[in-house]
Amino acid sequence: MKILDGKETSKQIKLEIAEEVKQIIRQGGKRPHLAAILVGNDGASETYVSHKVKSCDQVGFESSLIRFDNSVSEDELIKKIKEVNDNQDIDGLIIQLPIPEHISEEKIIESVAPKKDVDGFHPINIGRMTLGLPAFVSATPQGIIELLDRYNIETSGKHCVVIGRSNIVGKPISILMSQKSKTGNATVTICHSRTKNLRKITKQADILIAAIGKQGFVTADMVKEGAVVIDVGIHRVKSNKTKTGWKLKGDVLFEEVAPKCSYITPVPGGVGPMTIVSLLKNTLLATKQK
Ligand code: GUN
Repeated sequence: MKILDGKETSKQIKLEIAEEVKQIIRQGGKRPHLAAILVGNDGASETYVSHKVKSCDQVGFESSLIRFDNSVSEDELIKKIKEVNDNQDIDGLIIQLPIPEHISEEKIIESVAPKKDVDGFHPINIGRMTLGLPAFVSATPQGIIELLDRYNIETSGKHCVVIGRSNIVGKPISILMSQKSKTGNATVTICHSRTKNLRKITKQADILIAAIGKQGFVTADMVKEGAVVIDVGIHRVKSNKTKTGWKLKGDVLFEEVAPKCSYITPVPGGVGPMTIVSLLKNTLLATKQK
């Protein structure tokens, strides 16, 4: 069993991005600038956004964190998004999800200019990605593809089973894995909460992608010997062994699944860091496309 080390891989990619930024600046170009909107004080969202801001700093990007109270109105939020859309200095914009229930996620996502939508959530980017056209691909699926690619894991003709059908992960990763491309060409099955005989299907997977959002959902009896397992889950669980009082766990029961795998991503240090570098790559792309 080998670990797909997202932490190490992301460090390498950050060095590559930082080098490219230096080159752009040397040639008189513009420093990439990412803006992040954070609504409220959700603990997990605070952590994710602070990682994103810190990562921008590490690669030489500028970043702006725009905060709103939970009580912000939909109109106010859309007004700010339009302002950022028109701000020539900002190349990429993300709105950290989830947002409060009184605001329509759909309206917010559609307010972001597609050319600044570095999260790849806008219907135009999802549509273009689905058609195999150049697009901003959402960060987690893109990070998974890059990790598989950097470890030279063959995807062509393999059976890839995706558990979960979210717009952010399950749907886009299933499209990318089946895409006619060097990093795709897999035969993909999407499973979800209504799937019957789930175990029978997951056991057929050469590549199993767990994005169900349930801690420890994937157990050893669901995995074929020698499978590649990608764990997208991030769950905070209480722990008396860490300083913070909690630790991160995935959708996969790592201890019992890992021994059966050829490769597996850990949590933390697997898909998470790859997601952030994909966002950085998208921001760099947005800057270069100007
Ligand atoms: N919430 C959970 N994942 C994501 C993500 O990739 N981007 C944003 N903006 N919010 C999220």
